[in-house]
Amino acid sequence: MKKIKYQINKLRKKILKYDYFYHTLDQPIISDAEYDFLLNKLYNLELKNKKLFNFNSPTQKVGSYLLSKFKKSEHFSPMLSLENIFDLNGYLKFENRIKKYIVNSTIDFCCELKIDGIAVNLIYEEGNLIRASTRGDGYFGENITNNIKEIQSIPLKLKGLNIPKRLEIRGEIFMLKSDFIKLNKKYFINKKKYFSNPRNAAAGSLRQINSKVTAKRHLMFFCHGFNFFKDMESCQTHYEALLICERWGLPINKKILITSNSSEIFNFYKKFEKKRLLLDFDIDGIVIKVNSIYLQKKIGVNNKWPKWAIAFKYFPKEEITRLNYVKFQVGRTGLITPVAYFDPVCISGVIIRKASLYNKKEIKKLNLHENDYVLIRRSGDVIPKIVNVILEKRLKNSKKISFPKFCPICDSNLSVNQQDNVIRCFSGLLCEAQKKKFFNHFFSKNALNASGLGPKIINKLVENKIVLNLIDFFFLKIEQLKNIDKIGEKKSYNIIETISKSKKTTIKRFIYALGIFSVGELISEKLANYFNLINNIIYASEKELASINGVGKIIANNIFNYFSILENRKLIKDLLRVLYILPNKNNLINYKTSIFLNKNVVITGIFNSYSRKKMKEILKNLGANINSKVSKKTELLIYGKKYGRKFLDAKKTNIKMINEKEFDLLIEKYKLKN
Ligand code: IVH
Repeated sequence: MKKIKYQINKLRKKILKYDYFYHTLDQPIISDAEYDFLLNKLYNLELKNKKLFNFNSPTQKVGSYLLSKFKKSEHFSPMLSLENIFDLNGYLKFENRIKKYIVNSTIDFCCELKIDGIAVNLIYEEGNLIRASTRGDGYFGENITNNIKEIQSIPLKLKGLNIPKRLEIRGEIFMLKSDFIKLNKKYFINKKKYFSNPRNAAAGSLRQINSKVTAKRHLMFFCHGFNFFKDMESCQTHYEALLICERWGLPINKKILITSNSSEIFNFYKKFEKKRLLLDFDIDGIVIKVNSIYLQKKIGVNNKWPKWAIAFKYFPKEEITRLNYVKFQVGRTGLITPVAYFDPVCISGVIIRKASLYNKKEIKKLNLHENDYVLIRRSGDVIPKIVNVILEKRLKNSKKISFPKFCPICDSNLSVNQQDNVIRCFSGLLCEAQKKKFFNHFFSKNALNASGLGPKIINKLVENKIVLNLIDFFFLKIEQLKNIDKIGEKKSYNIIETISKSKKTTIKRFIYALGIFSVGELISEKLANYFNLINNIIYASEKELASINGVGKIIANNIFNYFSILENRKLIKDLLRVLYILPNKNNLINYKTSIFLNKNVVITGIFNSYSRKKMKEILKNLGANINSKVSKKTELLIYGKKYGRKFLDAKKTNIKMINEKEFDLLIEKYKLKN
């Protein structure tokens, strides 16, 4: 019992501290998910140990301490929170609970967007705004009347008819994402700090002692609740009441669905889950409310939330977690990329463990320290990114993380590549990381395609010094392989077989496999078609290389530099002894004199003697660029039967058009010439 008491007290203290950071200072120091987990744990412990119940426990509070710089003001009716659900099942449970209150009749629900902002309470008397406060602990809030009066979308005086003598309005203050970005830019210049999201920026802007600061921040407001203090005959439903508020001049969000159908509700939820990135304000879910005011009263509230409403939440887009370490990865070309590894977090339904820190500048900007707590976001809802560090949680004396001066693998000096201003290890194949990555690339699917010779095996072979260079792969023996950890005889045989098969390759694959900086598959194909023989590439001038369509000066320079290095030329010579490079399929025709060379060609329709794929292949091998649409760039259209819109587009202009027969003739003529 003593142990449980200690555990409960510890949890209560912890949660109260997190509440203070979240509600009072607007600086959350743990993620929502982590908070919910702790609160739930406490709730269950208290449930099992009723003797230890305490009214001051965070499980009994709506949240938030008051910040002493504002005066307190009491709410007429408590400002409650909402119960959260995350899936359809949760929603169906809610619906079943509601249905118990009303038998044999359908229940209409009012579905609204759940705005991710700051809840406020506005009091109007005789139509005049007389007081405004934050939620506070649900019973007492902070009096922020002066600041609220600076928000343009909140009317100081209501207009229209039948305005009650006293009126309580509940709603959300928020900042537009576009304004948030603008504000952060200015804020960083002046204060060298960022707000981590629009909600924090809105909260910080609202709780200003000087209301003139609030005025400048461009805050917005949507009304989503009300207390009229009297029954209004014209108003039976929540939705009707919202429309009345709107007529009095209070802004409401129009994305509302009234329905009794659960699949429509689910569709509404899904629709805005997709759309939320496109909205200019953050939403964290939808709110589903029983529409009838009579029924709401009948269903009632508990001490935390109304039982007639529920928040159907989206998975959070950001989380706070602890940084474990930063690894400086060495890429195939020696590029050093810092990667942060942290305690796993679930963001938008995906578990994330690491995020790239891109470069030295980013590390400097974030000012990361060992064991820091960091805010993670999936930018564009996909790529994980560290947004900032939670400074309040930084450990004393923790060491700053900085970019290394030496390669973490081979210990050689790192230096800045002047060409692209990134940090590289220039040791090439002398650096084991680059060696492993190069070997992996050489045998990868689009290069020599030695399927079955994956990174695990290649890395083992390098680490065990079985292969010292590329050529060694082609002379491997079963005896060398079978005793290496878990490889065994059968696998050894397969490895030798796959390497042997990969010896027969194409010139395009071979060029790509060399891993020349900036030479991907497309450029490899262009080089293969242009030169036809690897020796011609090795001795090509920089000028000739740059003249090839799509290559350009920078890539030409990289290729030229690569072949100027003696070791590279030696490697190729050795490789050509063990490999068998097939001639280019369509190179019966002399590529360099092809009239299709560098021509922008579009094809449309069906052909008698060629599939579209085949025709494209022939054209590509003749040096043409195949485009999918007719544009200003297009120089030739080849059309077959049942041609489409492209034919009509080309006809409108002066583009040369030929049919299949003419195409055949062109190729024939060509072949004869050469
Ligand atoms: S209705 C009794 N409707 O979400 C509480 N709340 O997590 C009834 N919120 O405290 C609230 N958009 O501040 C309602 N359309 C909406 C909302 C909304 C955002 C906030 C509100 C509430 C919090 C609960």
